[in-house]
Amino acid sequence: MASVLHFLLQLILCYTAVSSQTMELIPKKPLFRVGDRQELTCRVNQCSGTAKFSWGSVQDRPMYANPQSSTNKSTLVFKSVQEIIENTIVCKAQCEGQSRNMQAKVKIRVYSFPNDPVVSGFDSLVSRKENTLTCKVSDVYPAEYMTVEWLRGGKVVHTQEGEHGIKSIQSNYIFKPQLNDTGESIICRATLNLDDLPQEERTRETTVSMAVLPPPVLVSLQPDSSFIPLERGSSMNLFCKSSGCPDPHINWKNVRHQQNQSSIDSEESVNQLGPWTVDLEDNGTFICEVECDSVVKSKRTELKVFSFPSDPTIEISGPFLEGNVTNLTCTVHDIFPVDCFHIQWMYGERELQSIHGDFSDKLQNLSLTIPIKPKDSDQHKTFTCKVSLKIGDHLVQKTASTTLEVHYSPKHTTIDVRPQKQLNEGETVTISCQTDSAPEGQVTLSRVWNGEKTKLVSSNGTQTSFSISYTNVSHSGIYVCEAVNRYGNQTEEVQITVQAPPRNISVAVYPSNEVYEGETITVCCQLVSFPPSKIALRKLDNGKHIYSMDGTFLLVNLTANNSGMYQITATNALGFQNKNFTINVIRKENSSTDNPGSSVLNRIDLNNFIIPVIGVGVLATVISTLDCIRRSKRKGFYEMTEGIP
Ligand SMILES: *[C@@H]1O[C@H](CO)[C@@H](O)[C@H](O)[C@H]1NC(C)=O
Ligand SMILES: *[C@@H]1O[C@H](CO)[C@@H](O)[C@H](O)[C@H]1NC(C)=O
Ligand SMILES: *[C@@H]1O[C@H](CO)[C@@H](O)[C@H](O)[C@H]1NC(C)=O
Ligand SMILES: *[C@@H]1O[C@H](CO)[C@@H](O)[C@H](O)[C@H]1NC(C)=O
Ligand SMILES: *[C@@H]1O[C@H](CO)[C@@H](O)[C@H](O)[C@H]1NC(C)=O
Ligand SMILES: *[C@@H]1O[C@H](CO)[C@@H](O)[C@H](O)[C@H]1NC(C)=O
Ligand SMILES: *[C@@H]1O[C@H](CO)[C@@H](O)[C@H](O)[C@H]1NC(C)=O
Ligand SMILES: *[C@@H]1O[C@H](CO)[C@@H](O)[C@H](O)[C@H]1NC(C)=O
Ligand SMILES: *[C@@H]1O[C@H](CO)[C@@H](O)[C@H](O)[C@H]1NC(C)=O
Ligand SMILES: *[C@@H]1O[C@H](CO)[C@@H](O)[C@H](O)[C@H]1NC(C)=O
Ligand SMILES: *[C@@H]1O[C@H](CO)[C@@H](O)[C@H](O)[C@H]1NC(C)=O
Ligand SMILES: *[C@@H]1O[C@H](CO)[C@@H](O)[C@H](O)[C@H]1NC(C)=O
Repeated sequence: MASVLHFLLQLILCYTAVSSQTMELIPKKPLFRVGDRQELTCRVNQCSGTAKFSWGSVQDRPMYANPQSSTNKSTLVFKSVQEIIENTIVCKAQCEGQSRNMQAKVKIRVYSFPNDPVVSGFDSLVSRKENTLTCKVSDVYPAEYMTVEWLRGGKVVHTQEGEHGIKSIQSNYIFKPQLNDTGESIICRATLNLDDLPQEERTRETTVSMAVLPPPVLVSLQPDSSFIPLERGSSMNLFCKSSGCPDPHINWKNVRHQQNQSSIDSEESVNQLGPWTVDLEDNGTFICEVECDSVVKSKRTELKVFSFPSDPTIEISGPFLEGNVTNLTCTVHDIFPVDCFHIQWMYGERELQSIHGDFSDKLQNLSLTIPIKPKDSDQHKTFTCKVSLKIGDHLVQKTASTTLEVHYSPKHTTIDVRPQKQLNEGETVTISCQTDSAPEGQVTLSRVWNGEKTKLVSSNGTQTSFSISYTNVSHSGIYVCEAVNRYGNQTEEVQITVQAPPRNISVAVYPSNEVYEGETITVCCQLVSFPPSKIALRKLDNGKHIYSMDGTFLLVNLTANNSGMYQITATNALGFQNKNFTINVIRKENSSTDNPGSSVLNRIDLNNFIIPVIGVGVLATVISTLDCIRRSKRKGFYEMTEGIP
């Protein structure tokens, strides 16, 4: 094909040289705009007759146009130029009657650049961030000849070249605007660098005015609460986070704790306040401010500091004495804020008394006292002191309890004797004593005999007991139980009697059972018995009884007739026992008719024989010799001779 073209060219040159007939193709350098109606005219000069035209393309492609021919010219009309018509067109002509063929060819170029660039993204730029401005030039042909430029302040800041085959060119200008860039112009200029394209068609530009907005900053706090109850002494951190601003200035206002700002990523930064140890001064509002360009945003939270370090303590003014007032004082120490505290004294679910604290800006102690006048029925009742702290919805409660130990002196003291209080000799007896006292003290059992107290047993606590496994009369007596504690004592007593029939009678005769007439004899009986025995004396050959309660008989002015066997008989409800003895009265030489014996017996008969009675409460008639004589002496009937053994 190239060789054919070469050949044709040579032909044309040849014709031109030899003939005056010429042809021309207009325009010579066709540059057609897409969409326009355009023509290509082929004209023959000095053709005497009608010329015959034919059109063709070098590459033998369709021409997308219709020729209109007259005598000396032919016009190829492109009704609407499209890129597709780009071609090298050949026009051939032959004048009528001439054998010579003429031809001419021309290369048609097409361009398209109908629209101004369209700029977008300029009216809502965000400061400090990477923003993208877009400039779009559409329906461009041939795109590879196009250059898109961005100009700011007369300077090209970004350039983009078109590429073959595309129809639209988009240029992105990426930059970080400042807020004060608002109002500045930015130009997108598109240039189609085609030769022969008239200057006014080569370039189109769009100027826009930028609008820069501050970044959409968001602030958040961690912990995310507008109200934070916080215990004094605890460790605290507050985080203030900014998002949406690349390089914010985050500041906690009016704080004395350390702040540390760091960035998480390009969009987020955080300022950590603390950690610090919470104290009362931290009670208040914490404000975090985030500054991003001219925009300042803030977020706040209230720290409600409280102090409630320990359970309440209970103080008791003294022992709970029955009938006495004792103060129960509940104290809670080092609390804050006092006006949020409530102290209650409770008995079970019942509130006895309560108070609320008053406002104070310091740590305080808060106390509540209730007076208690205990009864013994209050023993072991539990009273509770409840302390509540309420800050917003935050409730903390602590309690302390005390159980009453009511104190009282011994009461309800009783003695119990088993099997019974009246016993027969040989039986077993148990004496128990019981009391009620608080605190417990001692219980002591004693026996009182002849006004003398003998301790039998003593126990710590509220009871004691004592057993006698084989009782005899000497166990009779008054048994005393004494219950004592530090507040007082109580005494109870019981009488126990052990009964025994008379036994172990012994008889002593003073000065001797052999005396001279006129002398006096004292007879003393000793025996064991309870109840006390009646003791009778009689002369066995005579049968008369003389009775004595204490076993002492006085025989005065004896005569020989009084010699003989005597019998002592002791009798009580349980039985009797005898004892025989003899008296021998020796007649004096000079003694006469005077019969002292009969006199004695007379006196006995007349009940002049004295029966001394001593010791109402005598239980066992066991008496000593001296005792015996003393008794008879006391009655004044008999002057003891000197030298009694
Ligand atoms: C072409 O022909 C027209 C008449 O048909 C004539 O007026 C014109 O002059 C001719 N042009 C040339 C260059 O011969
Ligand atoms: C815009 O603000 C930046 C700082 O944010 C400053 O450096 C610059 O000079 C300002 N430009 C104008 C035109 O005021
Ligand atoms: C500040 O915070 C960063 C990130 O949490 C940490 O790496 C840095 O050690 C902190 N600086 C100080 C002084 O606490
Ligand atoms: C604690 O701070 C709050 C404000 O957050 C204030 O109303 C209150 O009075 C403060 N309490 C004390 C005891 O200062
Ligand atoms: C009990 O109260 C009485 C009168 O109030 C008082 O005299 C007595 O000392 C109190 N007892 C104690 C142990 O406090
Ligand atoms: C109990 O408290 C009251 C008032 O608080 C006081 O008058 C009284 O003396 C106190 N009694 C005792 C036993 O402490
Ligand atoms: C609270 O009680 C404690 C212990 O009893 C005492 O040391 C402290 O001084 C008290 N505080 C006040 C404010 O009364
Ligand atoms: C009774 O109590 C006292 C003091 O409480 C103690 O010293 C003593 O040993 C106790 N006696 C008995 C028998 O437990
Ligand atoms: C009674 O028994 C006690 C021993 O329990 C003994 O010592 C005493 O002598 C006895 N008394 C009589 C009168 O039997
Ligand atoms: C028992 O109480 C009385 C007064 O009530 C007192 O005199 C006596 O000493 C007390 N006895 C003992 C053992 O404490
Ligand atoms: C005492 O004497 C009488 C008469 O002789 C006699 O029946 C009796 O058994 C004697 N009693 C004693 C204890 O010897
Ligand atoms: C004893 O008896 C004699 C003669 O019968 C008489 O004189 C004397 O007074 C009596 N003595 C006494 C103490 O009774």
